[in-house]
Amino acid sequence: MTRRIVLTSAVIALVCFSSAIALRSAAQQPPHDWREYGGHQGTRHSTLTQINRSNVRNLEVAWTYDTGETGGLQTQPLMVDGLVYANTPGHRVIALDAATGALVWKFDSGLTSRGPNRGVTYWSNGTEARVFASVSTFLYALDAKTGEVMKDFGDGGRIDMRLGLGRDANPLNVTMSSPGVVYRDLIIIGSATAERLPAAPGDIRAYDVRTGQIRWTFRTIPAPGDFGADTWPADARANSGSANAWAGLVLDAERGIVYAPTGSAAFDFYGGDRLGDNLFANSLIAINAATGERIWHFQTVRHDIWDKDHTSPPTLITVRRNGQDVPGVVQTTKQGTVFVFNRVTGEPLFPIEYRSFPQSEVPGERAADTQPIPVLPEPLVPQTTTEAMLTRRTPEANRWAVETLRTMRTGEFTPLAVGQNTLISPGMDGGVEWGGGAFDPETGRFFVNVSNMPEFTSLVENAPAPDTNGRELYRTHCAECHGEKLEGDPPNMPSLVGVTGRRSLEEINAVIREGAGQMDGFGHLGQPAIASLLQYITAGAVTSAGGGRRGGPPPQVGPYRFTGYNRFVDPEGYPATAMPWGTLNAIDTRTGEYSWKVPFGEYPELVAQGMKDTGSESYGGPVVTAGGLLFIGATLFDKKFRAFDKDTGALLWETTLPFAGTATPITYEQNGRQFVLIAAGGRRVQPTGGVYVAFALPQGAGE
Ligand code: HEC
Repeated sequence: MTRRIVLTSAVIALVCFSSAIALRSAAQQPPHDWREYGGHQGTRHSTLTQINRSNVRNLEVAWTYDTGETGGLQTQPLMVDGLVYANTPGHRVIALDAATGALVWKFDSGLTSRGPNRGVTYWSNGTEARVFASVSTFLYALDAKTGEVMKDFGDGGRIDMRLGLGRDANPLNVTMSSPGVVYRDLIIIGSATAERLPAAPGDIRAYDVRTGQIRWTFRTIPAPGDFGADTWPADARANSGSANAWAGLVLDAERGIVYAPTGSAAFDFYGGDRLGDNLFANSLIAINAATGERIWHFQTVRHDIWDKDHTSPPTLITVRRNGQDVPGVVQTTKQGTVFVFNRVTGEPLFPIEYRSFPQSEVPGERAADTQPIPVLPEPLVPQTTTEAMLTRRTPEANRWAVETLRTMRTGEFTPLAVGQNTLISPGMDGGVEWGGGAFDPETGRFFVNVSNMPEFTSLVENAPAPDTNGRELYRTHCAECHGEKLEGDPPNMPSLVGVTGRRSLEEINAVIREGAGQMDGFGHLGQPAIASLLQYITAGAVTSAGGGRRGGPPPQVGPYRFTGYNRFVDPEGYPATAMPWGTLNAIDTRTGEYSWKVPFGEYPELVAQGMKDTGSESYGGPVVTAGGLLFIGATLFDKKFRAFDKDTGALLWETTLPFAGTATPITYEQNGRQFVLIAAGGRRVQPTGGVYVAFALPQGAGE
């Protein structure tokens, strides 16, 4: 029985994918495995067909694995040779039996580490196999069979990612929120860095998989004399930071090219100390995977002062043009725009226009004269918000939104102002997020989910000199999220008023040091600074924490700070823009036109009032299969996991997960049975957990 299914699906795969490209990609990633984060070439595509349009409604839970931890889970696991490799919310690494979900091994570094950790990287040369996992500022090499630390790698089995950047490592926070890629015997990584100074430069680095030696570095902030150095002040390499590729890299193994999508330079919202276009921030960079040399690059936002990071990894595609297959790459953006390039030459495959936008009025700032705007495909989501585009959920909500909008500056690429809010559409959470898109070689379609959630913020002048007391530290590092008066922005950002009633001082201290959920840790500030912060927060008022700081250099406070990531929601907490608040999209990459677009995500309490298909924010990407299906969780409020018909966008199946499935699923075959696996971890707007849920057809009913 089992055997027959294996053969049948292999035959179907061959029949459906007789093109040379599909066969080649199948050869690199056996169709029953899921070996790379984002799937082969970032396509999130599988040739499996056992689960298909006609039987998907019969899917049932095959197994679950509860990590027993809380805090959320954005991991897209891997499946290699019968083992599922994944993370826990607290950054332990686990290997599960792919057929049963039974724990095979678990690696606990002993470090406390929190925050997004979207997966691991697998390397094998046929005899040896390693799993690379990031924990805190370290990259560990583990034996893929046993989970044991490979002591010959780096410093006793790990490398400290803060080292080798040409700077004092101490004040730097360098972690990885998305895993690296393996090319031959190299593990190539991007990084997550601070969003304000001091921030590490976002160098892309390649390490030897066996020794952990750095083999090459691509400097995203150029050193004097490097290409692009003239787009920065002379001292940028020494002083500036970020321009990091945190959303993940994608490899074209045949051509030996790695694609790195970078984010903004620090500080996100004021660039008076980094005048110029700031290459290679906000760029898609094609890098020679063997040597680290730049092949081509495209900067999608010049001199970013809006935090418009590349939030999603690119997807490698094949575009049919004039009867020929053109190797392409799709890069989606936080703005919800879609850039498509020839991935060998960097030449755009659809027209891109350079348009002028308003100049900044902030002293010392200078916005770029023009920004590149893709003409095709059209944006996934509105690029600005006008009165006609506001919520009509209730008349009161609409009135509130109209009045509020009139107090704000709006418009695409409108620079922030001091003392007045600017509405950024879509907001600093996108747009398209870290889940990225999926590509179907069969139809040439690219699938992607997008959120329509504008956010507003403004700039405030900082005290002229860096101050070390709790209040100044709080204003510099915490107020943007928890509010100037500790009031937060519930439910997204917790209020710290009365926090001592909810948590012990040790717990609060640990959260500040190590971070939690969407909050990065601040351990790098040093314990004296954290003690001052603690005193300020627990007093709930201004304190003058004398004594000063002993450890670490002072944070470099620029002339401005910003007033936080404020979602544009009505007084009842729903988006203040017109529905849909999120969509799922299929774009024909041959024409740049949309094949379909459907509302994506719901609010259960609005559904109960008869308001269905509102759309909602979503985090986590889709997976497309040769079975005709698009699997996706991602929606924040309804905790659903869904399967759509990839040709029409029709919903074919849905189920409710224990927590929101804010992660990208995978699909694989083990013992003749196709599984679809997703991490359900939720986000802080709801309870969080960390459970892996695998679905399959009832046993024996597959064929
Ligand atoms: C990027 C936004 C962000 C920044 C900056 C930030 N926090 Fe947080 N903070 C959060 C979020 C989100 C949570 C909730 C985390 C969770 O439990 O999922 C949180 C939780 C906390 C908690 C626990 C609150 C509770 O009710 O349990 C404390 C205490 C805290 N933060 C203090 C700080 C301090 C002090 C700073 C500055 C050094 C800071 N935060 C900076 C977003 C932020």
